[in-house]
Amino acid sequence: MKKLVYSLFLFSLMCNFTLPLNAQRAKVRKTEAKVKMITTPVPVRPAGQKDVLGLDTPKMDVVRVGFIGLGMRGPGAVSRFTYLKGVEIKGLCDLHADRVEKCQQILKKAGLPEATGYSGSEDAWKKMCDRKDIDLIYIATDWKHHAEMMIYAMEHGKHVACEVPAAMTLKEIWDVINTAERTQKHCMQLENCVYDFFELTTLNMAQKGVFGDILYTEGSYIHNLEEFWPSYEGDWRLKYNKEHRGDVYATHGMGPACQLLDIHRGDKMNYLVSMDSDPVSIPNYIKNVRKEDPNGFKNGQHTMTMIRTEKGKTIHIQHDVASPRPYSRMYQCTGTKGFAQKYPVEGYALQSSQVDSSITPNHEDLNSHSFVPTEVKDALMKKYKHPIHVELEETAKKVGGHGGMDFIMDYRLIYCLQNGLPLDMDVYDLAEWCCLAPLTAISIENGSAPVAIPDFTRGNWDKIKGFRHAFAK
Ligand SMILES: NC(=O)c1ccc[n+]([C@@H]2O[C@H](COP(=O)([O-])OP(=O)(O)OC[C@H]3O[C@@H](n4cnc5c(N)ncnc54)[C@H](O)[C@@H]3O)[C@@H](O)[C@H]2O)c1
Repeated sequence: MKKLVYSLFLFSLMCNFTLPLNAQRAKVRKTEAKVKMITTPVPVRPAGQKDVLGLDTPKMDVVRVGFIGLGMRGPGAVSRFTYLKGVEIKGLCDLHADRVEKCQQILKKAGLPEATGYSGSEDAWKKMCDRKDIDLIYIATDWKHHAEMMIYAMEHGKHVACEVPAAMTLKEIWDVINTAERTQKHCMQLENCVYDFFELTTLNMAQKGVFGDILYTEGSYIHNLEEFWPSYEGDWRLKYNKEHRGDVYATHGMGPACQLLDIHRGDKMNYLVSMDSDPVSIPNYIKNVRKEDPNGFKNGQHTMTMIRTEKGKTIHIQHDVASPRPYSRMYQCTGTKGFAQKYPVEGYALQSSQVDSSITPNHEDLNSHSFVPTEVKDALMKKYKHPIHVELEETAKKVGGHGGMDFIMDYRLIYCLQNGLPLDMDVYDLAEWCCLAPLTAISIENGSAPVAIPDFTRGNWDKIKGFRHAFAK
């Protein structure tokens, strides 16, 4: 008996040493919920419907596109698409005919044929989606139209790409997932920040193990929008903030933070807690500048959210579109062997073991108490430049769009469609990054209670092992 116990003890020790780091930690600590977590319904996947994880669709030599929403954001996308090969711009739609005409001029200037214009009614976009000669609908309208447009387009045989946040409520999110699964169409949220030069380089470093085991990531949208409020069509954005508490614009922070943690590709978010400070600046703006009554304004001045994952990692997300602060997406990555941050200053701090003499001859002098010197940071960024940037950096910087990341996003969307590859962002990313709007509101309105984050893959979050971009062979 003693021998058996001893053998079992030895065996358990051996198992522990051979388990990957993640599994070892997952065994160590499981958080027991002492208070009841708030849950939201998870609709059963309809019979005969399957997930769209790793979805690939037949290759396309030419991707025929229709754009809906040509306000502040849309024309930039039309312009970027004129630089893409193997694309035909077939349709342009906006409520206003003059906005369509402005985009026709972009095509003309690029030497491209005129697209069919759609305008003048709330529903004109449906006619464009009904066409048989369009493969992709690209949406850049206000938030409230996104889900309806994506669903209609997929039901009419189109792939869709939609600006952020692509869905605002849990009903919208589940309806979009179910439509993507039922139609087996691509449904990508146009989250550009995952292609930023620092973020994508850091992701590459993370995937190569430079930071060790990543335990904590951070992201945010901190951007004082006061000068922009009057420019949104029909005042939709201020109205949305007026009527909703919670992090209503979380995707720029969530995207890079979730990719670092392989969310729904080996880990999943389990729950969140959220808290906001009282709104002051926007109500003052409404009162003093617009001479209107700000009473009942809901969105907090600053909203903070913390998320815990199945594998015991944490994410911190913040939202503040009101305070007089410098723009920031925070973006931090903390691992067992190193640290990266983009704001307020870009930098890496690494244990000396993580840097070799190809980066700096004095690598043994490095320690993680402070950022590596600029020349070491530059050498790291050069060494770990992501293959996507190696290929596209020059063109992206020339075409522009938030310093080039917008062009890279569009390029990757078209590249993957043309090559029949899974897109970089799938409908479950869309769901996970957008669900903060409704779930943080629930948490805040319940005294910052923990709220369960649904597994939007409905059981398949561990099917894909690690997030990777797809490339043609
Ligand atoms: N990723 C980014 O960095 C980034 C930056 C800015 C905006 N955005 C997102 O882009 C989207 C658009 O923002 P914006 O600043 O251009 O807003 P906007 O108000 O300037 O433009 C929205 C456009 O949609 C049109 N529209 C509304 N309803 C329509 C309908 N039924 N049919 C056709 N057209 C319709 C409006 O006429 C308007 O021209 C939003 O989701 C926003 O969050 C993303």
